[in-house]
Amino acid sequence: MAVLWPAEAIWQAVEPLLPGFTVEVLPEIDSSNSELMRRARNGQLEPTLLVAERQTAGRGRLGRGWQSAAGESLTFSLGLPLAPADWAGLSLAVGVSVAESLHPRIRLKWPNDLWLDDRKLGGILIETAGAGPDRYAVVGIGLNIAPRPAEGLSTPPAALRELDAGLDAGNALLRISEPLVRTLQAFEQHGFAPFHARFQARDALRDRTVALSDGMAGTAHGVSETGSLLVHTAAGMQAISSSEVSVRPATP
Ligand code: BTN
Repeated sequence: MAVLWPAEAIWQAVEPLLPGFTVEVLPEIDSSNSELMRRARNGQLEPTLLVAERQTAGRGRLGRGWQSAAGESLTFSLGLPLAPADWAGLSLAVGVSVAESLHPRIRLKWPNDLWLDDRKLGGILIETAGAGPDRYAVVGIGLNIAPRPAEGLSTPPAALRELDAGLDAGNALLRISEPLVRTLQAFEQHGFAPFHARFQARDALRDRTVALSDGMAGTAHGVSETGSLLVHTAAGMQAISSSEVSVRPATP
């Protein structure tokens, strides 16, 4: 079913925070992140919320793809100039913001997954254009709205409709957008500190045995002040900050 996008309501809520802000809905694009990164490299640095009704080449972390179906998922990117003193923990802060906007049962799996009952509800892909502290940040978010097949996925999928049968991609986006902009502005001012305890409260890995893609294993002990995952291993406590590492619970 076609989604009615509340673009005007989102613009009304966000423009006072971000002058020059626009909302754009594209029926089809390779990837909303790729599009905003291309624009940024061409000098288009206005704050933009770009919704893709369909992505033909959606991208996830670690070079993975992101599959979604039109009408059954929410795929969008928010691009804006951002100059935090330290970028560490940004994807965690974004996860906190999205989870808090949607439902108390949503958990966060370090560094960028939204989980429901150990299944993947959504993911976050953050990219930046430019060098130095003043960059254009592209915050891409993909969320399953309706249940979807598990084939080909390393983590079984969950859907927002399991939590709220009346939800569609448009009203989910309306709930997420303004708090997300406030989150990015708070992160720019104060870094990860205001989000630390809020992440811990939703940490899906806390006190669980985890296996890392680099072969390490141990018990997850939350995140550090800068958003690194703390894992107690045979070699002692390790702080994992590398975005190249993936982690999963080794036990239920
Ligand atoms: C992940 O789980 O690895 C991150 C997935 C991020 C997917 C979103 S969908 C909107 C935006 N455009 C993309 O190509 N990717 C992000």
